[in-house]
Amino acid sequence: MSDVEFIEIPEGLIRILKNSKKVVALTGAGVSAESGVAVFRGAKDALFSKYKPEEIATPEAFRKNPGLVWEWYEMRRKKLKEVKPNPGHYALAKMEKIIDDFYIITQNVDGLHRQAGSEKVIELHGNIMNNKCFQNNHHIGELPLSDEVPPKCPICGSYIRPDVVWFGEYLDPDKIALAEKLTEQCEVFFSIGTSSVVYPAAGLIPLAKECGATVVEINPEQTEKSYCPDYIFRYPSGKVLPYIVEKLLNSTGS
Ligand code: OAD
Repeated sequence: MSDVEFIEIPEGLIRILKNSKKVVALTGAGVSAESGVAVFRGAKDALFSKYKPEEIATPEAFRKNPGLVWEWYEMRRKKLKEVKPNPGHYALAKMEKIIDDFYIITQNVDGLHRQAGSEKVIELHGNIMNNKCFQNNHHIGELPLSDEVPPKCPICGSYIRPDVVWFGEYLDPDKIALAEKLTEQCEVFFSIGTSSVVYPAAGLIPLAKECGATVVEINPEQTEKSYCPDYIFRYPSGKVLPYIVEKLLNSTGS
C-alpha cells in the first residue's frame, strides 16, 4: 500500500475544510510509523508484542521492576533521536498555517509534531524526553550523573521515571478539558493513525461526531471507531495528508 501513486481527495471534503475555521487532528502512533517509530499494537515489531502494557507501562510495573521499565524507555528514546518527522507531520504543520484554528491532539510522546513545525499541539500522554520522580513528581531537568538504573531524584531520592502517562494514571486535567472543548467546537475532526482503543483519547472521536463535526479517519486498517467517520482513507497518513494540503491550497472554489 505504501507504493500508492495517487490518492483522490473528494471535492466535498475540501469544500468543508475551506469553509471551516475550527479543525482538530487526533493523532496516534501510526502517524509516526513512516518515520520508523514502532506502533504499540498489531504490527510484528509492535512495542506491546514483546511486553504487555501491564508489564512495562504501569506504576505497578515500575514498582516491580524499575530497571526494566527504565531501560525500555531508554531504548525508545535512543531510537527517537535517530528519526525525523515524515510528510504526514509536515502536512499537518502546514494545515495549522492554512486553517484559522487548527489543533493537534496527540497521544504520541515522540515530539515529532513540534519538530515538524506544529505549534498548537496538546501532548495528551506527555513527552518521552521529560522526566519526573516517582514519589513526588519533582520535575527533573538534566538527569543526574549516576550509574544507578534508574537514576534517583536529587531532591527526594526516589527513582526517576519518564514523564508520560501510564495505564492506570490520570491525564493532566487541563489538557483533557481543552481537548474535549476543542473537539466539541470543531467543524472537522481528523482521526489519524490510532487504533482508537485507549481512553479518554478514543472517546474524542464519537464526541466529535455527536457534536456535529465532519469526521475523517486516516488509517490503512479498520479501527474500533470506524463507524464514526464521514470520510475514510485506507492509506498511510504520510501519503494522504500531503494530497489533502495540496488540494486545499490549489482549490479555487468556495
Ligand atoms: P496503536 O499502536 O494502538 O495503533 C496504531 C494505529 O496506526 C493502528 O490502527 C495502525 O493501523 C495505524 N497505522 C499504522 N501505520 C500507519 C500509517 N503509516 N499511517 C496511518 N496509520 C497507520 O497506537 P495508538 O492508537 O496511538 O499510550 O495507541 C494509543 C496509546 O496506547 C498510546 O498513546 C500509548 C499506548 O499505550 C501511552 O503511552 C500512555
